[in-house]
Amino acid sequence: MASVAVNDADELYPFPDAGAVRGEAMRGIEPLARISLLCDEGLVASVGNARPADITIDARGCTVVPGFVDPHTHLPFFGWRADEDAARLSGLRYETLHREQGGIYRSSRLLAGASDDDVLAFSGELASAMLRRGTTTFETKSGYGLSIEGELRQLHLAKTLRDRVPQTVVTTCLAAHAVPKGKSEGEWIGEVATELLPRAAAEGLASACDIYIESIAFQLEHAARLTQAAEELGLRMRMHADQLEDGQSGAFAARWGLASADHLNHCSPAAVGDLATSATAAVLLPGATFTLRQNKKPPARSLIEEGAVVALGTDLNPGTSPIFSMPFVVALACRLYGFRPREALAAATVNAAYALGLHEQVGRLAPGCRADAVVLGVPSFDDIPYRPDHDPVLAVVCNGELVHVSPEGRERVAGA
Ligand code: NIG
Ligand code: FE
Repeated sequence: MASVAVNDADELYPFPDAGAVRGEAMRGIEPLARISLLCDEGLVASVGNARPADITIDARGCTVVPGFVDPHTHLPFFGWRADEDAARLSGLRYETLHREQGGIYRSSRLLAGASDDDVLAFSGELASAMLRRGTTTFETKSGYGLSIEGELRQLHLAKTLRDRVPQTVVTTCLAAHAVPKGKSEGEWIGEVATELLPRAAAEGLASACDIYIESIAFQLEHAARLTQAAEELGLRMRMHADQLEDGQSGAFAARWGLASADHLNHCSPAAVGDLATSATAAVLLPGATFTLRQNKKPPARSLIEEGAVVALGTDLNPGTSPIFSMPFVVALACRLYGFRPREALAAATVNAAYALGLHEQVGRLAPGCRADAVVLGVPSFDDIPYRPDHDPVLAVVCNGELVHVSPEGRERVAGA
């Protein structure tokens, strides 16, 4: 494998420590200046002086960050739902579309009606677009299968997608996404706990389980049941929590020690305290807030200042967040949620890796970590939220390979 050197960056953010960045550490994030990165055999070899390598990238005037980690997407899926968005823009509610068998049910029908090849082509194009914006690790989920066989098919599609893309991919079983027609919540959760999760775990199709807690979906008693089942199977447990109403699910996630609580728009001040003193990652998804035009924002500043592990993701899905770009999510987090640029960077890299249980390997630029790095054609990370519709990515190194160079980046690369 060719070695790759990224030389003389104006700013480089290494995040040298393996844990999440939280509390005091979130206030002290500083880049290294005039610094170079050497990648060899797929790993970060050194951060320091400029070094010769098979491929070199001149990063003068640039900012170098760890490859973005997107800890929450709904890939693989098939097809968009722009008509539902237009209906929402005319005043219809997401919950109403869901009750009328649109929303998640609609994407379930679209997935069932598409061939495996069609789903993989559609989702693969999105994964490529994500890579070109610097996402080198992402999560995939089921949740549009809505039957045991349908969920297993989506998990198998996620596995095939993982085998076809250069990125690091992890998969979550979100069977508890919508209640299948003709079943009660309890019946479906029972089937998921006793049949689907054991099969998914035995076949290595998922490393985590997720549940959508909302009055239109599932309740905390179901979360308790799945948390137990996940623990017995060695799966991590996550939760779509307090997105559309305060269901006290953020507090539940923290108290039960779940891996993450995601969304959190309606998270109460008491639940902020629970999350701040827990190991549970608060995964914030401003793309969904932006798309749904939600006035109610998560208490992001309190979460950050009280010391919770705060991460950012796209929530890429055809309903509530048709957004694939982590730089855009960073901009939304700063504009809508009050993040400072460097806090958003930590949340989109090292802390997102923590949410996936991957912080030893990815989300950081320390020797021995996977060599995932993004060269941004701006002198400071402050430019990322400042210019939200500008594509800043000049080059992407993924697993030690130079996988993308933009037209503007070409003259900076030698040896490729
Ligand atoms: O994270 N809220 C539940 N799940 C997704 C939306 C899925 C869909 O509408 O297809 C979310 O926002
Ligand atoms: Fe989601």
